[in-house]
Amino acid sequence: MNNGDNSKGLPLWHGRLNVSSADVLRNLNSSIGFDIRLYKEDITASKAHAKMLKTIGVYNESELSAVLDGLEKVKEEIESGSINILPADEDIHTLVERRLTEITPAGAKLHTGRSRNDQVATDLRLWTRRICSEIITELISLQEALLTKAKSLEGIMMPGYTHLQQAQPVPVAHHLLAHGWAISRDVQRLFESRNRTNVSVLGAGALAGSSLPLDSHAVADDLNFKSLFNNSLDAVSDRDFVVDVLSAIALLGVHLSRIGEEIILWSSSEFNFVELDDAYATGSSMMPQKKNPDIAELARGKSGRLIGNLTGLLASLKGTPLTYNKDLQEDKEALFDSVDTILNLLPAISGMLLTMTFNSERTNELATSPFMVTTDIAEWLVLNGVPFREAHALVAGLVQEALTTGTELSELVATHELLGDEPKKLFENATIANSKKTHGAGSLKQLKEQVTVFEQNIANNRSLL
Ligand code: ARG
Repeated sequence: MNNGDNSKGLPLWHGRLNVSSADVLRNLNSSIGFDIRLYKEDITASKAHAKMLKTIGVYNESELSAVLDGLEKVKEEIESGSINILPADEDIHTLVERRLTEITPAGAKLHTGRSRNDQVATDLRLWTRRICSEIITELISLQEALLTKAKSLEGIMMPGYTHLQQAQPVPVAHHLLAHGWAISRDVQRLFESRNRTNVSVLGAGALAGSSLPLDSHAVADDLNFKSLFNNSLDAVSDRDFVVDVLSAIALLGVHLSRIGEEIILWSSSEFNFVELDDAYATGSSMMPQKKNPDIAELARGKSGRLIGNLTGLLASLKGTPLTYNKDLQEDKEALFDSVDTILNLLPAISGMLLTMTFNSERTNELATSPFMVTTDIAEWLVLNGVPFREAHALVAGLVQEALTTGTELSELVATHELLGDEPKKLFENATIANSKKTHGAGSLKQLKEQVTVFEQNIANNRSLL
């Protein structure tokens, strides 16, 4: 008969089974290799649970203090690497409990009213809540890098593109801040994900709660959770918060990939818009002249695995009936990988953007290409009573003529009966940079307002951290 003695190194749940696990099962089932990362959260949550057990009379004062000290000791052993992980310690929860019980017999009461099902969900929520803040901090630094760069390029213009064809001139700062706004939405999404993560689920037990008078409210408060679960079945089977964060990171990855793609183009000799700082570029092992934008390429490449982690977990979740199923263990590697990847990437991208030099002479020159003024010419005609469709056709005709005859477009404008010297002024640099007058538009004047709002956005993000 099983008397609770575990000196044979069997798993904590061995009581029901007659033989020890096959090695292949252990290898497959074990998550300690990756969920050891949750040790701090596991110990924090265990302390909160133990304190609550004392208030309902499961622990007396001295048992509680032995458990709290014991948990501290386990933490130190994990941190110093002195802990001995046995094959039967299949995950962080069983490792901590097994070692605690060796340190103090009171450890044997710790799992009262608790299951690894509510425990793992609690640990992962604590971990995810913390990590959301870490990612947000890096994102704010990226916003700041974009802002600093934008401000340092005040007054510099570049061609704006659609279909990667030169379209209309825009301030470089406007272009950089466009990426900054995408990042600000990533920040927002991570705040929202953090909110949905910030729910206490300890007390849900294995799936149906407990017949003991557990005080889940006290545990939630102790762990600083914002709210408490409403349904024990949902509490142990919900991994939406992981999907939320993976999804926020996947979209963030897509944004970084788009930034990366532009840096790759811009640093090519064909574009020649930017030169990367030597510390943020690589060389070629064979071709001595090469300077490669590896960070930008890795941002583009790694977005693939960030998307993969999201879709992988969604696929793992979709067939699982309520409540806990071992499939749920697949949440952690996906989450850890996405978090590690993004935390690796973000400072590299910020550093690359901050240190690159802009070839403003070239971008300014391209921005004054006469063909990019054509929309403004058509709009000038509109202001003078010509219906837009007719104005568009008229200017398109002049573009064709300029291309076929080699005449300067500005000359054709100056000599056209419906146009003349006034619209010809639209080709002048100073006019080009300020022609757009609408809200949020790409002109130097409008940009000032945008920079102020962007600064407020950063300050607001900081204050919410
Ligand atoms: N290692 C497990 C996981 O990550 C912990 C929960 C195990 N629960 C269980 N009933 N087997 O999901």
